[in-house]
Amino acid sequence: MSTPTITLNNGVAIPQLGFGTYKLPAADTRDLVLRAFDAGYRHVDTAQMYRNERAVGEAVAASGLARDEVFVTSKLNNAFHAHDDALAAFDRTLDELRLDVVDLFLIHWPLPALDRYTEAWGALEEIYGSGRARAIGVSNFQPDHLQRVLDAGTVVPAVNQVEVHPWFANAEVRELDAAHGIVTEAWSPLGRGRVLDDPTITRIAAARSRTPAQVVLRWHVQNGHVVFPKSATPSRIVENARIFDFELSDADLASISALDRGARTGSHPDHENRTDR
Ligand SMILES: NC(=O)c1ccc[n+]([C@@H]2O[C@H](COP(=O)([O-])OP(=O)(O)OC[C@H]3O[C@@H](n4cnc5c(N)ncnc54)[C@H](OP(=O)(O)O)[C@@H]3O)[C@@H](O)[C@H]2O)c1
Repeated sequence: MSTPTITLNNGVAIPQLGFGTYKLPAADTRDLVLRAFDAGYRHVDTAQMYRNERAVGEAVAASGLARDEVFVTSKLNNAFHAHDDALAAFDRTLDELRLDVVDLFLIHWPLPALDRYTEAWGALEEIYGSGRARAIGVSNFQPDHLQRVLDAGTVVPAVNQVEVHPWFANAEVRELDAAHGIVTEAWSPLGRGRVLDDPTITRIAAARSRTPAQVVLRWHVQNGHVVFPKSATPSRIVENARIFDFELSDADLASISALDRGARTGSHPDHENRTDR
């Protein structure tokens, strides 16, 4: 079953399901990404910070897939918000990935204490203008960060990649994204596995003869999010891709949405200021 795509605000199509690569074991990343391709994934989410772009690039090269069949995202690391540093870091990303063009390139964190993200956005706009990124966007941008980029820039971000899962709706960010035609990408879509034992989710999963992870991913898909669950477990890589042959009812969706308890698994973007990762 092929993965549906969402059309970004510049016309580029992104597969709604991707494969997350944060914390994959380094030695296994190439093989796990190849397994994901075998299972039907056509979108990989990596980052300079994950230090696995090279393995992702090796997998893309070894996959035998045509370049336009695979969507690859990477992200600018926190140490490189200065204009020239961002351009140089992007060149290294293309080298590591062995690509001439990346599909999507994001500012990974806004780092408000550093306050150089509008400068970094200027560099991403240049990269986009050069044609070496088919789309550009941001990650972990709160409404005030997003608004400054919209005010200072000339390109509207194509996506905002932020934490979203049933225990953390991140509603204000998602609403601002939608108001500007920015697609929300949901990171930690499974809440790093923590939401999977929630009784509401296990009840719906049992009723639909699906697994909790499939139900949660389907909730994301029906809410219009792009998702990229991470798994280092081959059977789960396959399981997480089998989400396009069933539907949740409106009542199921509402029950899962009602689980929001404001519970982040990761850093609050206002307080993430590390440049040493
Ligand atoms: N932009 C950002 O700042 C940011 C931050 C975090 C994440 N991300 C991106 O989002 C991706 C996904 O987020 P994430 O890796 O934090 O968390 P996640 O995908 O929500 O959850 C991954 C965890 O869930 C487990 N899992 C996966 N599938 C499962 C299944 N079917 N049944 C039971 N457990 C399952 C995995 O275990 P096993 O691996 O042991 O199978 C792993 O412990 C990342 O890999 C990365 O690409 C971006």
